[in-house]
Amino acid sequence: MPIERTLSIIKPDAVAKDVIGEIYSRFEQAGLKIIAARMKQLSREEAETFYEVHRDRPFFTALVEFMTSGPVMIQVLEGENAIARNRELMGATNPAEAAPGTIRADFAQSIDANAVHGSDAPETARVEIACFFGDDDIHSR
Ligand code: PPS
Repeated sequence: MPIERTLSIIKPDAVAKDVIGEIYSRFEQAGLKIIAARMKQLSREEAETFYEVHRDRPFFTALVEFMTSGPVMIQVLEGENAIARNRELMGATNPAEAAPGTIRADFAQSIDANAVHGSDAPETARVEIACFFGDDDIHSR
C-alpha cells in the first residue's frame, strides 16, 4: 500500500470540546503519524479559499461561518493509505450516518459541526497541505 500524506483539520466544535488529544491518539493508533501541526484561527478569506470548490453549494456561507467560529487544529498525517484510512477514522460527513466508533459518531453534533476534515484524494491532499504548511514545517520520519 502506498505511503501517503493527507491534510486533517480538527474543526472548531471539536477543539472547543477539548478532544484534540483523543483524536490524535486515534490517528497514532491507526498508524498515521502526525508530521506537521499548527493551531490557527482561520480568517474568512482563508476559509473561503480552502472551501472554494464548494462555493456554489447552499451550505457554503454556513460552512465558512462555522470554520471561522473558533480556532482549528491543522495537521499533516502520513502513513500507508493515509487518505482513505483517515476518512475511515472520521466516519460519514453526517454524524447521524457515521459508523459507531468513528470520530464523527463520537464527537460531532450535526452535519454543520462535524468535528473533522480530511482530504479526499492525493491531488486534493497536496493542494490542501500547501495551504497551511511549507516543506520546512513537515517532519517525515
Ligand atoms: S465530502 O466528504 O467532502 O465529500 O462531503 P461533502 O458532502 O462534499 O461536503 C463538503 C464539505 O461541506 C461540509 N458540509 C456541510 N456543511 C454545512 N452544512 C451542510 N449541510 C453540509 N454538508 C456538507 C462537509 O462537512 C464538508 O466539509 P469538510 O471540511 O470537507 O468535511
